[in-house]
Amino acid sequence: MNAGSSHVLTGRYPELGSEPIPIEPYISPQYFELEKKYLFKKVWIHVGRVEEIPSAGDYFVKQLDACDASVLVVRNRDGAIHAFHNVCSHRMNKMVYTERGSTKKFFCKFHGWAYDLDGRLVGVPDEKCFTGLKREEHGLSPVNLDTWQGFIFAAAIPGRRLSIATGNSHSMPSKKPIMCRMYTGARLPVHCSSPMRAVCGPSMVCAVNITGGCRSPETRNQSTAIRTR
Ligand code: FES
Repeated sequence: MNAGSSHVLTGRYPELGSEPIPIEPYISPQYFELEKKYLFKKVWIHVGRVEEIPSAGDYFVKQLDACDASVLVVRNRDGAIHAFHNVCSHRMNKMVYTERGSTKKFFCKFHGWAYDLDGRLVGVPDEKCFTGLKREEHGLSPVNLDTWQGFIFAAAIPGRRLSIATGNSHSMPSKKPIMCRMYTGARLPVHCSSPMRAVCGPSMVCAVNITGGCRSPETRNQSTAIRTR
Protein backbone atom coordinates (compact mmCIF):
# COMPACT_ATOMS: atom_id res chain seq x y z
CA MET A 1 0.00 0.00 0.00
CA ASN A 2 1.59 3.30 -1.08
CA ALA A 3 1.44 6.60 0.79
CA GLY A 4 -1.19 8.04 -1.54
CA SER A 5 -3.69 5.24 -1.11
CA SER A 6 -2.99 5.22 2.62
CA HIS A 7 -3.90 8.90 2.81
CA VAL A 8 -7.13 8.34 0.90
CA LEU A 9 -8.15 5.47 3.15
CA THR A 10 -7.30 7.39 6.31
CA GLY A 11 -9.62 10.17 5.19
CA ARG A 12 -12.38 7.81 4.18
CA TYR A 13 -12.22 5.62 7.29
CA PRO A 14 -10.86 7.80 10.11
CA GLU A 15 -12.13 5.34 12.72
CA LEU A 16 -9.49 2.87 11.58
CA GLY A 17 -6.72 5.29 12.54
CA SER A 18 -3.23 5.34 11.08
CA GLU A 19 -1.18 4.22 14.07
CA PRO A 20 0.65 0.91 14.18
CA ILE A 21 -1.70 -1.93 15.04
CA PRO A 22 -1.43 -2.64 18.79
CA ILE A 23 -0.11 -6.06 19.72
CA GLU A 24 -1.71 -6.15 23.16
CA PRO A 25 -4.84 -8.04 22.01
CA TYR A 26 -2.60 -10.83 20.72
CA ILE A 27 -0.36 -11.33 23.74
CA SER A 28 -2.30 -10.25 26.83
CA PRO A 29 -3.61 -13.13 29.01
CA GLN A 30 -6.10 -10.74 30.60
CA TYR A 31 -7.37 -9.69 27.19
CA PHE A 32 -7.78 -13.33 26.23
CA GLU A 33 -9.79 -14.05 29.36
CA LEU A 34 -12.12 -11.16 28.55
CA GLU A 35 -12.45 -12.40 24.96
CA LYS A 36 -13.37 -15.84 26.26
CA LYS A 37 -15.97 -14.47 28.62
CA TYR A 38 -17.61 -11.88 26.39
CA LEU A 39 -16.96 -13.22 22.92
CA PHE A 40 -15.84 -16.76 22.20
CA LYS A 41 -18.21 -18.54 24.58
CA LYS A 42 -21.14 -16.67 23.03
CA VAL A 43 -20.55 -17.21 19.34
CA TRP A 44 -20.56 -20.13 16.97
CA ILE A 45 -17.13 -21.70 16.67
CA HIS A 46 -16.19 -23.80 13.65
CA VAL A 47 -15.27 -27.29 14.84
CA GLY A 48 -15.19 -29.45 11.73
CA ARG A 49 -16.82 -30.74 8.57
CA VAL A 50 -19.66 -33.22 8.19
CA GLU A 51 -17.47 -35.39 5.94
CA GLU A 52 -15.26 -36.13 8.92
CA ILE A 53 -18.00 -38.28 10.47
CA PRO A 54 -19.84 -39.90 7.54
CA SER A 55 -21.25 -42.95 9.34
CA ALA A 56 -23.26 -43.66 12.47
CA GLY A 57 -20.96 -43.76 15.46
CA ASP A 58 -18.20 -41.70 13.87
CA TYR A 59 -16.97 -38.99 16.19
CA PHE A 60 -14.22 -36.47 16.74
CA VAL A 61 -13.17 -34.38 19.70
CA LYS A 62 -12.38 -30.71 19.38
CA GLN A 63 -10.48 -28.88 22.07
CA LEU A 64 -11.77 -25.31 22.24
CA ASP A 65 -9.28 -23.49 24.42
CA ALA A 66 -10.97 -20.19 23.68
CA CYS A 67 -14.11 -21.58 25.31
CA ASP A 68 -12.43 -23.63 28.05
CA ALA A 69 -14.21 -26.62 26.59
CA SER A 70 -13.58 -29.96 24.96
CA VAL A 71 -16.39 -30.86 22.58
CA LEU A 72 -17.36 -34.34 21.45
CA VAL A 73 -19.07 -34.32 18.03
CA VAL A 74 -20.81 -37.54 16.96
CA ARG A 75 -23.19 -38.80 14.29
CA ASN A 76 -26.05 -40.86 15.70
CA ARG A 77 -27.89 -43.81 14.21
CA ASP A 78 -30.38 -41.55 12.45
CA GLY A 79 -27.64 -39.60 10.74
CA ALA A 80 -28.02 -36.52 12.93
CA ILE A 81 -24.96 -34.84 14.36
CA HIS A 82 -24.80 -34.02 18.07
CA ALA A 83 -22.23 -32.29 20.22
CA PHE A 84 -21.57 -32.80 23.92
CA HIS A 85 -19.15 -31.57 26.49
CA ASN A 86 -16.48 -34.24 26.61
CA VAL A 87 -17.11 -34.85 30.29
CA CYS A 88 -18.80 -37.71 32.16
CA SER A 89 -21.93 -36.71 34.03
CA HIS A 90 -20.90 -38.74 37.07
CA ARG A 91 -17.69 -37.20 38.39
CA MET A 92 -16.76 -35.01 35.46
CA ASN A 93 -14.07 -37.33 34.21
CA LYS A 94 -12.88 -36.79 30.66
CA MET A 95 -14.98 -39.08 28.46
CA VAL A 96 -13.13 -39.58 25.19
CA TYR A 97 -9.34 -39.49 24.95
CA THR A 98 -8.91 -40.27 21.26
CA GLU A 99 -9.06 -37.45 18.77
CA ARG A 100 -11.44 -39.32 16.46
CA GLY A 101 -12.90 -42.74 15.88
CA SER A 102 -16.07 -44.77 15.59
CA THR A 103 -18.06 -46.49 18.33
CA LYS A 104 -21.47 -47.75 19.36
CA LYS A 105 -21.28 -46.34 22.87
CA PHE A 106 -19.03 -44.16 24.93
CA PHE A 107 -17.66 -45.63 28.15
CA CYS A 108 -16.20 -43.57 30.94
CA LYS A 109 -12.86 -44.97 32.06
CA PHE A 110 -13.41 -44.03 35.70
CA HIS A 111 -16.48 -46.00 36.86
CA GLY A 112 -17.70 -47.34 33.56
CA TRP A 113 -20.85 -45.35 32.93
CA ALA A 114 -21.98 -45.84 29.33
CA TYR A 115 -23.64 -43.34 26.97
CA ASP A 116 -25.24 -43.95 23.60
CA LEU A 117 -24.73 -41.90 20.45
CA ASP A 118 -27.45 -39.47 21.56
CA GLY A 119 -25.70 -38.85 24.86
CA ARG A 120 -28.19 -40.85 26.91
CA LEU A 121 -26.93 -42.67 29.96
CA VAL A 122 -27.50 -46.34 29.11
CA GLY A 123 -25.26 -48.24 31.48
CA VAL A 124 -24.27 -47.88 35.13
CA PRO A 125 -22.18 -50.60 36.79
CA ASP A 126 -23.49 -51.44 40.29
CA GLU A 127 -26.45 -49.20 39.62
CA LYS A 128 -28.21 -50.43 42.78
CA CYS A 129 -25.56 -48.54 44.77
CA PHE A 130 -26.78 -45.25 43.33
CA THR A 131 -29.98 -44.79 45.29
CA GLY A 132 -32.51 -42.75 43.38
CA LEU A 133 -30.38 -42.39 40.28
CA LYS A 134 -32.47 -41.23 37.32
CA ARG A 135 -30.64 -42.10 34.14
CA GLU A 136 -32.61 -39.56 32.11
CA GLU A 137 -31.14 -36.76 34.22
CA HIS A 138 -27.53 -37.78 33.76
CA GLY A 139 -26.87 -37.88 30.06
CA LEU A 140 -23.92 -36.13 28.49
CA SER A 141 -24.25 -32.35 28.60
CA PRO A 142 -25.26 -31.13 25.14
CA VAL A 143 -23.45 -28.36 23.32
CA ASN A 144 -25.40 -26.28 20.86
CA LEU A 145 -24.56 -27.31 17.33
CA ASP A 146 -25.46 -26.12 13.88
CA THR A 147 -24.27 -26.88 10.38
CA TRP A 148 -23.96 -24.69 7.34
CA GLN A 149 -22.71 -25.82 3.94
CA GLY A 150 -21.17 -28.84 5.59
CA PHE A 151 -19.35 -26.80 8.22
CA ILE A 152 -20.07 -27.81 11.80
CA PHE A 153 -20.29 -25.07 14.42
CA ALA A 154 -20.62 -25.32 18.19
CA ALA A 155 -21.59 -22.67 20.74
CA ALA A 156 -20.51 -23.19 24.34
CA ILE A 157 -23.22 -21.11 26.00
CA PRO A 158 -26.29 -23.27 26.78
CA GLY A 159 -29.64 -22.25 25.36
CA ARG A 160 -28.38 -20.40 22.33
CA ARG A 161 -30.53 -21.33 19.35
CA LEU A 162 -29.77 -18.83 16.58
CA SER A 163 -29.19 -20.62 13.33
CA ILE A 164 -25.98 -20.10 11.40
CA ALA A 165 -27.87 -19.48 8.17
CA THR A 166 -30.15 -16.77 9.53
CA GLY A 167 -28.92 -15.38 12.77
CA ASN A 168 -25.18 -15.38 13.33
CA SER A 169 -24.92 -11.62 13.14
CA HIS A 170 -23.26 -10.45 16.33
CA SER A 171 -20.98 -8.21 14.37
CA MET A 172 -21.95 -8.33 10.75
CA PRO A 173 -24.57 -5.61 10.31
CA SER A 174 -24.09 -5.17 6.58
CA LYS A 175 -23.40 -8.27 4.63
CA LYS A 176 -22.07 -8.27 1.13
CA PRO A 177 -21.94 -11.79 -0.21
CA ILE A 178 -18.61 -12.87 -1.62
CA MET A 179 -18.51 -16.06 -3.61
CA CYS A 180 -15.44 -18.17 -3.18
CA ARG A 181 -14.34 -21.69 -3.86
CA MET A 182 -13.32 -24.06 -1.14
CA TYR A 183 -12.96 -27.76 -0.59
CA THR A 184 -14.65 -29.66 -3.41
CA GLY A 185 -15.01 -26.57 -5.55
CA ALA A 186 -18.52 -25.73 -4.42
CA ARG A 187 -19.34 -22.05 -4.56
CA LEU A 188 -19.95 -20.91 -1.04
CA PRO A 189 -21.43 -17.59 0.01
CA VAL A 190 -19.20 -15.88 2.52
CA HIS A 191 -20.21 -12.59 4.00
CA CYS A 192 -17.95 -9.61 4.52
CA SER A 193 -18.76 -6.54 6.57
CA SER A 194 -15.39 -4.86 6.14
CA PRO A 195 -15.18 -1.75 3.93
CA MET A 196 -11.72 -2.86 2.82
CA ARG A 197 -10.97 -4.94 -0.22
CA ALA A 198 -8.75 -7.91 0.44
CA VAL A 199 -5.91 -8.67 -1.94
CA CYS A 200 -5.57 -12.36 -1.29
CA GLY A 201 -6.77 -15.77 -2.40
CA PRO A 202 -10.24 -17.14 -1.76
CA SER A 203 -9.08 -19.25 1.17
CA MET A 204 -7.72 -16.12 2.82
CA VAL A 205 -11.03 -14.33 2.27
CA CYS A 206 -12.85 -17.24 3.88
CA ALA A 207 -10.46 -17.41 6.78
CA VAL A 208 -10.68 -13.68 7.42
CA ASN A 209 -14.43 -13.68 7.27
CA ILE A 210 -15.02 -16.88 9.22
CA THR A 211 -12.74 -15.76 12.01
CA GLY A 212 -13.20 -12.02 11.64
CA GLY A 213 -16.94 -12.35 11.50
CA CYS A 214 -16.90 -13.70 15.01
CA ARG A 215 -15.15 -10.71 16.46
CA SER A 216 -16.69 -7.73 18.11
CA PRO A 217 -16.37 -4.47 16.18
CA GLU A 218 -13.86 -3.31 18.75
CA THR A 219 -11.51 -6.22 18.40
CA ARG A 220 -11.95 -6.31 14.66
CA ASN A 221 -10.98 -2.68 14.30
CA GLN A 222 -7.93 -3.28 16.41
CA SER A 223 -6.73 -6.42 14.84
CA THR A 224 -7.80 -6.58 11.20
CA ALA A 225 -4.76 -6.32 8.98
CA ILE A 226 -5.71 -6.80 5.38
CA ARG A 227 -3.66 -5.28 2.64
CA THR A 228 -5.80 -2.80 0.71
CA ARG A 229 -5.58 -1.02 -2.59
S1 FES B 1 -16.63 -40.26 36.44
FE1 FES B 1 -17.42 -41.31 34.75
S2 FES B 1 -18.34 -43.08 35.57
FE2 FES B 1 -17.61 -42.00 37.29
